[in-house]
Amino acid sequence: MKISDWHERFTLQSTWTRDLRNFIFRKIDAQPGQTLLDVGVGTGALLDEYTGRGLQVIGLDLDLENCQFANLHPSKSIIFNADAHCMPFKQHQFDLTVTHYVLLWVRDPAQVVAEMKRVTKPGGYVVAFAEPDYHSRIDYPEAFQDIGKIQNRSLAFQGIDLSMGRKLGHLFRTIGLKDVRLGLLAGQWRYPEKDDFDHEWDIIAFDLGGMVPVEEILAMKEQALKSWLDGEATVFIPTFYAYGMV
Ligand SMILES: C[S@@+](CC[C@H](N)C(=O)[O-])C[C@H]1O[C@@H](n2cnc3c(N)ncnc32)[C@H](O)[C@@H]1O
Repeated sequence: MKISDWHERFTLQSTWTRDLRNFIFRKIDAQPGQTLLDVGVGTGALLDEYTGRGLQVIGLDLDLENCQFANLHPSKSIIFNADAHCMPFKQHQFDLTVTHYVLLWVRDPAQVVAEMKRVTKPGGYVVAFAEPDYHSRIDYPEAFQDIGKIQNRSLAFQGIDLSMGRKLGHLFRTIGLKDVRLGLLAGQWRYPEKDDFDHEWDIIAFDLGGMVPVEEILAMKEQALKSWLDGEATVFIPTFYAYGMV
């Protein structure tokens, strides 16, 4: 996929968690003028939202191409190309240090959360907005179950921790964050449209590529689309959030 396709994907993904972010920002009383570090900023899908809240945003990502793309963004954010395991910031620098769909990708999530805590001011917050637990996914009916299993295999092959979600609470508590709140993003399904399927399928096809022959992917797609348009399909990947005070 091209980087602009990834950006589109990340932007769509960020709409699923928007209400949750609003909820958490209210809970932690985020105020305009505060500094926010977005760890694993990716292509910058969330930059507009954060700067739109009046936050002063710094982004950090390991992937140079993502950083370059995020840097093209018209918002006034500064993007660092660096590793979240060892961030190039002084301690107690940010009011809020947040992450969104990132800890499942990193080598040592405990080290990354410890770094997030280190760079956050006392009284500030560390937030993981969305960490999925692919091992507890629900895929219905059978056509989707098969796709789900192959997608999980592919994600594991790409190096993600399929059980990150369930580990999040313990991770936040053991790192010594205070008053840790842990929760689950609720699911909501409107009547399934072809457009939604196409968006979903792009990423599924990307994950299935190389794992299954093309003809098999196309046959799966046909079966899955029928079940989707019949209103039969339910796909749910439990996605956890956590926040805690420094
Ligand atoms: C699924 S993307 C999420 C991007 C963005 N947070 C969003 O939600 O649109 C995961 C991002 O984490 C970044 N990442 C993975 N490991 C990292 C590390 N050790 N340090 C910094 N960024 C990392 C990847 O380069 C990628 O941009």
